[in-house]
Amino acid sequence: MKKVLFISLLSVVLLSASLSLAQEKAKVAYPVGYRDWPHVKSMLIHDPKHPLYNPFSGLHHIYVNKKGLEAYKKGGPSPDGTIIVFDLLEATVDQGAYVEGARKFIGVMQKDSKKFKETGGWGFDAFEKDTKNSFVKDGGKGCYNCHLGQKDKDYVFSKYRP
Ligand code: HEC
Repeated sequence: MKKVLFISLLSVVLLSASLSLAQEKAKVAYPVGYRDWPHVKSMLIHDPKHPLYNPFSGLHHIYVNKKGLEAYKKGGPSPDGTIIVFDLLEATVDQGAYVEGARKFIGVMQKDSKKFKETGGWGFDAFEKDTKNSFVKDGGKGCYNCHLGQKDKDYVFSKYRP
């Protein structure tokens, strides 16, 4: 009897350990040097009525590393090793011009079809302001759930602007 109890307790412990592993954040490294990467496109979101206003309001620029550039130009799919950065800045109005302000965060997608199998082959992560501190707590599931709408485009929304 005791043995049965022990085994069932052990399986509860193992189960919760594997659950917390599943919730661990995606291990996407901070994309050092991305400001020198090819620029894909930019967008200004300034109207609170826009569906992405919260939390993406502001001016964002998208960059891709050299590895992913050709596929982006063709419209995907991206090879393993591709890293895409969504660089979001505050937008302030100055004498009729929209001017870049402080950085809000950077969003990162990194392609590794084995490591990130559960989220379409992409690791999702985000780093606040000018720091290397990730604030994504759900392993990128929230990001993935929205990017899932682009499944037939390899989960990428934006198009390379020639
Ligand atoms: C509610 C939907 C939504 C959520 C949630 C979301 N994104 Fe996106 N994401 C978009 C859209 C739409 C674009 C395209 C923006 C453009 O065209 O400039 C985009 C673009 C991107 C890009 C550039 C590549 C691409 O797909 O165009 C990256 C990188 C990115 N997001 C990362 C993230 C990360 C990391 C998270 C989670 C922290 C996240 N996103 C959450 C909708 C979303």
